[in-house]
Formats: sequence, C-alpha cells, structure tokens
Amino acid sequence: MTASPPPATVDSLVAGLTLDEKTLLLEGVDAWNTNGVARLGVRRLFVTDGPHGVRKVRDNAGAFGLAEAEPSTSFPTSTTLAKTWNPRLAHEVGAAIGRESAALGVDVLLAPGVNIMRSPLCGRNFEYYSEDPLISGVFGAAFVRGVQSEGVAASVKHFAANSNEDFRFTGDSVVDERALREIYLRAFERIVTEAAPATVMCAYNRLNGTYCSENAELLTGILRDEWGFDGLVMTDWGATRDRVAGLAAGCDLDMPGEVEHNRAELKAAVEDGRLSPETLDRAVGRVLALIDRCAPDTAASVDAAAHAALAEEVAVEGAVLLANDGVLPLSAPGGRLVVVGEMFEKMRFQGAGSSLVSPPEAVSPKDAFERRRIDHAYAPGYRALDAAPDAALESAALAAAAHADTVLFFGGLGDLEESEGFDRTTMALPEAQVRLLSALVDSGAKVVLVLSAGAPVEIPHAEELAAVLLLSLPGMRGGEAAARLLFGEANPSGRLTESWPATAADSSCADDFGRDAVSQYYESIYVGYRFHDRAGTALRYPFGHGQSYTRFEHRELDVTPDGERIHAQVTVTNTGDRDGAEVVQLYVRNNRGRVFKADKELRAFTKTWLAAGASTRVELSFPLADLAYWDVADHGWVLENGEYEVLVAASAADIRLSAPLVVHEGRASLSPYPPAVDLAYAEPPAEVPDAFAALLGRAVPPARRSHRLELEARLADARGSFLGGIMYRAVVGRVQRDFDAALALPASPERDAKVKSAHFVLRMMPSMSLRAMAMSSAGELPYHVAAGLADLGTGHPLRGIRRLLSRRQGQEGNR
Ligand code: BGC
Repeated sequence: MTASPPPATVDSLVAGLTLDEKTLLLEGVDAWNTNGVARLGVRRLFVTDGPHGVRKVRDNAGAFGLAEAEPSTSFPTSTTLAKTWNPRLAHEVGAAIGRESAALGVDVLLAPGVNIMRSPLCGRNFEYYSEDPLISGVFGAAFVRGVQSEGVAASVKHFAANSNEDFRFTGDSVVDERALREIYLRAFERIVTEAAPATVMCAYNRLNGTYCSENAELLTGILRDEWGFDGLVMTDWGATRDRVAGLAAGCDLDMPGEVEHNRAELKAAVEDGRLSPETLDRAVGRVLALIDRCAPDTAASVDAAAHAALAEEVAVEGAVLLANDGVLPLSAPGGRLVVVGEMFEKMRFQGAGSSLVSPPEAVSPKDAFERRRIDHAYAPGYRALDAAPDAALESAALAAAAHADTVLFFGGLGDLEESEGFDRTTMALPEAQVRLLSALVDSGAKVVLVLSAGAPVEIPHAEELAAVLLLSLPGMRGGEAAARLLFGEANPSGRLTESWPATAADSSCADDFGRDAVSQYYESIYVGYRFHDRAGTALRYPFGHGQSYTRFEHRELDVTPDGERIHAQVTVTNTGDRDGAEVVQLYVRNNRGRVFKADKELRAFTKTWLAAGASTRVELSFPLADLAYWDVADHGWVLENGEYEVLVAASAADIRLSAPLVVHEGRASLSPYPPAVDLAYAEPPAEVPDAFAALLGRAVPPARRSHRLELEARLADARGSFLGGIMYRAVVGRVQRDFDAALALPASPERDAKVKSAHFVLRMMPSMSLRAMAMSSAGELPYHVAAGLADLGTGHPLRGIRRLLSRRQGQEGNR
C-alpha cells in the first residue's frame, strides 16, 4: 500500500466535483467497476471476488458472468485454510491472491469472508473460517495483511451477523449485545484493529431491525468510532435499501450501483437539507482516498507453479484425519484397492457462488493415483452432480468392491447441495451416496471415506468405517493432497475449526435456524463448542479434533502472568514413529462467577512440527484483556476477578493439561442481567427461552412473512399472490432456462462451472426481494419498475402504473 494522500489533495479534488459527479463516484458503474471522473483524471476502481482466488470476469461475459473468468489459482476454500491452524499460510495465500489480483489490474479484492459459522447448515460456511472468533480473526487478519502487502485493497465481509443464505436479502439477525460483541463482531474487530483493511463490506441482512447497509451504530459507532477504522465501507452487491439513510450511517460506496434512483435520491436529499454536504463529501473523499491508496502492480510477475504448490501445501495441511483404525496410511502395493465414487475423478474442490474461480488445471485424486501408478480398480457408483441413486452404477460398484481388501469411498456434498445463495435443510449426504456407502459397509468391506464438503455432514455408519479423511474443499491440487495423505507421503495435521454434531438437530441453534426471516440468536454466546461443552452433546467430532499418523504427548504446563499478558509453556513430544505436526490448543476455562459463561474458550494456539521422537517447549501467550466478557450494563469489556483455568488440549474434548490462573486485576463478579436471564442462560438453552426478550432488553420482533409482492418480500413468499406468482415464474423461469441450458452442454470443466453458477442463481433467486433485485441488477431492473410492481402488489394500482410509466426516476422514488 502506498501512504494515503495528504487530506488536502483529496479535499481539493472533492471541492472541484459537481454534485452529479459526486453521486456517480459513490456507486459502481457495473458489477466490477466504480465510476471515474475523466475530466479530473479520477480513474475507476476495479474490484473482484474473492477469498479463494481471483475471479476476473472475462470482458465479454456479460454483467456478472459468474462462470467465465480469467484463469487463476484455485486455493483451498477458507474453511480448509483455517483447518491448517497455520496463519502463516493465510498470509501466503493472501499475498499470492494479491499478486494475481495486481497482475490482473484488480484494485480491491472482495475478501476475506469472516462470518461466524453459526449453523452447520449455512450454505456459505465453506467461505468462512470457523465457529470461533479467535480463529476467524487471526486468519482474517493474516489474509488481509497478505493481500494488502501487494498493493491491493482487501474488503472484509460480510459485516455483520450474516449467518444464513435463505433469508440473507431481507432477514433480520436478532442478536443480544453480548453475543454480538463476543462472537459475531470479534473477528472483524481483530482484523480492523490489527490488519487495517482498506475496505469493509456490509452484509445484506438487517441486524437488530436495521439493514446493515444503513446501520449507523454498526458502520460508524462501532467500526469507526470504537475501532478506529479509517477506510471505506461498501455495500454487498445490492444490499442498499435507502441510499440516503445508508450514506448518513457511514456506508460510502453502493455496489454494483448504476441505480439512477439512488443518485437522484442523494441529490434531492442534499438539495433539501436531509443530507449534509459534509456527509456526502466525506464519503466521496473516502472513495478518492481508496483510489489513491490502491497501487496494484500490473507488471507483477506471477509464479503460477509456486501458487499451485502453495495451494497443494494448504490442501495437505488443511485436511483433517477424522478417524483411523490404523488402515491409513495405505502402503503402496497393499492388496486389492477399489475406489468408489465419482468424486474420485470429478473432485469437488471449490464451492459455488461468487467465489468460484477458473483454475488453469485441476488435479483430481484419479489423476494423482495414475501419476503414482497406484494399482486400483475404480467404479463411479453415483453421479457427482445428481443426488438420486443410479441402480446400474451402484451394483457395478458393489460388484467391484466384492473382493477388495480396502475400499476408498470418495464422497461428500455435491455442488447442487452446498453453495452460496441457499442453505441446506439437512446434514445428510446425498441419498445415492448414503445408500451405496451403507451397502458397502453391510457387505463387510473395509471402507475408508474421503470427504469433500465445505461444512459438517452426517457420517453414515461412522463406527464401522475404517477411516475418515476430510479434504473439505481443497482447491485445484486437492487430488494430489489426497494421494499424499492416503499413501503416507504426508502426515495429516489439520484440525476442525467447527464442531461436527451427529445431525443438524444437535447444533447450537437448531431451534431457530432456517425457520424464518427473523433469526432469533437465542443461544447467545453458546455457539459451537461453547454450546456443546456445556450441553454435553454427543458430538460426532469436536471442535479442534484431528488425528495424525503419529502421536503427541503434552507435559509440564507452566503458566506465568506477566502484567498485561499471560504466558504458557508446555513440552510436546512426538512419541510415534513418523514426523508430524501437533496443534497445541490453549483454552481458558472461565471463572464460574455470577455471569453466565461458556465452559472454556480458545485463547491461543500454535502448530509445531516435530520429528519422530523429538520434543520441544512450546510457548503460547494471550492478553489478559482477552478474558473479559462484554458487560451489557457497562456496554464495555469487563474482566471478572476469580479463578480461571488454563487448559492445554488436543481438541475441545481432549484436555491434556491444566493449571490454575487467578485473576485479581479486574472487578468482582456481578451479573448485569435480570434473574430470569441468569436462570435461563445458566446452561445453554435447547430452544428459544422465554427470557430471550429479557436478554435482548426488548421484545422479540414478530416474524412477518408477506405473501404479497412487496419491495421487501422474498419472491418465494410472495409467489402465493397473483402478481407475486407471475413475478416468481418470470424470474425463476428465466434462470431455470439458464440452468437447463447449462445442463445440456457437453461434458467439460466449463460446463460444470456453468451448471454450478446457474444453479446458485436459480436457488438464490427465490430469496430475493424486488428491492434487492433492483439494487443488485446494475440497472437491468430499474428501481421505479420494482417500486411500481410493489405498488401494484400491495393494492395501489394507480400509483403503481404512474411509477411504471415514469421515465425520470428522480421525479418519483420513495416520496
Ligand atoms: C456476495 C459477496 C460478493 C459479491 C460480488 C455478493 O452476492 O455476497 O460476497 O463479493 O456478491 O460478487
């Protein structure tokens, strides 16, 4: 990054702009470019997705052209990256993507996504790091530093509490103040204060009743005034509702823009005094400062081979050996090996949606096996892009497996099950896979399950499987990583960054998730392991879990408070016969005072490589202040005096050592809550408790689902009405045709990318509102048309027709 220009430069530029030019500068001109002002030499900004590689859409690919991008390295997705527990890799991946962005002339990379994984069912979990704010914050900060070290601006997203996809455009995340601070904002806070991202992208959803794009408390009070953010806030694509309110709240740039109505509204608001010229100028100044700050080096040389190798290293380190009875690693000439599952050749290496990239090549497990000349038989058994069983494929696979010594079953979630744009309704694997896996296990075969999935899945017959290796979504070299791990060329060292309940019903927000537009975050701070620890859930695999081909022992934990930091030292020994890496996890068991707390929370971690038989003294430390909880009476962090415990663990359920820690620098324990809240939250609630309103400090907003075609109604809900049905069929019918056309293409990687993208749009469309469509379509659906249709849909035909016929949107709008 180059230094920001002296304010005078920006100020004098702002002073030279007309009102029209200012409003143009505050929005995009299309999906990937902002406006410039040619007469003053103000250039456009070029922005692209995303977290797992650069998606520079080809020039001729239309406005969004999701599937048609310039080739770029496909890195493992964020959830895989975090599962390395190695933040150095996040920095390197960020820098590599930054370099590729720079070479492609990208100013702003729309990444990283740091939302907390609240439910295993959120369709976009693959794009996020963890259920834990420390992991999310540390990885997000490292990634941002990496990207920005290449002169490219990062955009941390989606701010905030965007925990589902089905209701993301119109939903309301109702979160109590403490959970917001301790869980949902914590990673953003760390990233903003430690890595100074140039931009933040606000989320689509409402937070406690107010759309994030116009939430002044969030965008100004917390982000700027408290955390000292001095960059630019942009909307998610189409997140604007009321542009004037948004600008006043601190939302500077509207993307993808090209909404004439918004420009007209801004101008009118300045002219009639609703918006001060200073507020407008401040936002314009931030856009100009960002333009000045971005300095992508388009001559940067990109070492594609090194980036591919990095992608492979992350895939190897991020893979998690979930279970192993000793069958892994496979010794090369080790009996008859049968591979089942089309994902062996059609590896699912990335998720679908805005983060989709087009890698120059992808190495499937099949390629990697062939490269090694592994003697094996292969039967697809099911179709990767079809959940329904195929009897012929199934029986061929069973026949092939009949005399196997080991069956490697490649499975997981397909692109049609998991994507940005919609949530899953179950954690189950596709039916075809469940049936086949069950039949294989029933036949007595020794089955190793190799999983590609961006979020937890149910593991059928878990107890009877010989091993389970989770690749997550491993990027373009995923096949190579799988082979290295399966054959013992590499030793698994990844650990889960989210809890794996047996089924979705066991998750911490099961009583709320996916129910309605009003998401009641009733579990408060009890998210993920913070819930399961106290609820005693019989988890399939706990947070932090992951095996190795070797074993580690921990001993001699010393804890030394040193003023503002707590230091811990522990000796770790590799007691097995292979070199390997251990992730040392340091949790602090909370003081059991009067304020309800999770049992323990992750406060530090480190990954250490040890040769077989070697020992090392590992040091970890964390600020004492991290033990504070957010006090809703003080509206601030409060350190509670009392007895804590420092725990060294191999997972949230595998505590190896502990040492007491007495805190006396804070204040006596005192609950800020009414007794009903203390009672209801002494243990994590299994369902929305009556005391949720008392926890919030206000009534829980009623869930209101409009079945009319309103500006803020989801098409899926409005389709029951006459006009809503017409609109739904028109919109969804159009994208259905795109999907069918993609399905009809001849088999090729391009066809698969088009199928994924068309499917993402098809599944996302029903959750869009007329307003979200108008704001995100870069002019394709003009706002006055959307508003006119909504008038018709809500019984105002004359106004509706007037609006629909109006050309000059500045004359109508919201007024
Ligand atoms: C996504 C963002 C993305 C943007 C641009 C939105 O729908 O939520 O994460 O950066 O599109 O593609």
